[in-house]
Amino acid sequence: MKVFDTINETENHLKSFQNKSIGFVPTMGALHEGHIALIKKSVAKNDLTVCSIFVNPTQFNNPEDLKKYPRTLDEDCKMLEEAGCDVVFAPTAEEMYPNLPQIKLNFGYLEEIMEGKFRPGHFNGVGIVVAKLFNIVKPNKTYFGQKDIQQVAVINRLVKDLSFDLEMIVCDTIRENDGLAMSSRNRRLSKGARDLAPKIYESLKLGEKLLLAGESTESVKSKVSEFYLNYPEFELEYYEITDFESLESISEHNPKRRTAIIIAAHLGGVRLIDNHVF
Ligand code: PAF
Repeated sequence: MKVFDTINETENHLKSFQNKSIGFVPTMGALHEGHIALIKKSVAKNDLTVCSIFVNPTQFNNPEDLKKYPRTLDEDCKMLEEAGCDVVFAPTAEEMYPNLPQIKLNFGYLEEIMEGKFRPGHFNGVGIVVAKLFNIVKPNKTYFGQKDIQQVAVINRLVKDLSFDLEMIVCDTIRENDGLAMSSRNRRLSKGARDLAPKIYESLKLGEKLLLAGESTESVKSKVSEFYLNYPEFELEYYEITDFESLESISEHNPKRRTAIIIAAHLGGVRLIDNHVF
């Protein structure tokens, strides 16, 4: 496995694979089994698999969050090599941004809801860095996790609007045995917080049960708020019930369409997101 930290080296190396299929998994490192599942999918379907590891400063609207984001490059490389990854691109911030980008990407409605609303500027940062990475790696296929459901919608928009010639593959969320969605941020949870964290998934499953029993989304949201009264350690940022395709709020579950329940909550100083689609 080759590890590069410059754009030049990466592009030069990838030039010799022009006629091969390249699968690409962009990450911010602190890898877990969820990332490795994406790498393995890519390895199975492509001649070459590239993973980027870059904690992108421009997508953090909270400097403290950026500072605390786990960085574990050596461990990450070991996991990637074992999973069959061929190339790692792990640039510094100076390499990616010799000058801060002046353009601004606006994803319309997606900026106004959930992650867009609570993390202003986040998707501008995500969109620009992913576009830069696509230009550097020139993948045929790219792999993203369903856990970041709104990011998936943003990248789909980016690919369509900027005509990137690639296929986007969205992979299921990988969970711990107790239901907690795997996330790089989980390693920042204290023991007590880690024990409580599966309540997030429990609240998503509770929402599903109530919606399938015919309750309105308003009633479900109020019952979920009551559920969290039992666990004051959580600070709920949002709990939204939306159409899976449009991510627009719905008033009840439509059995002919897929519903997504999407949550963000703070627990012990760590911000966690998750979703459940049915
Ligand atoms: O999902 C992530 O880890 C990041 O948002 C991404 C896509 C690597 C862009 O920095």
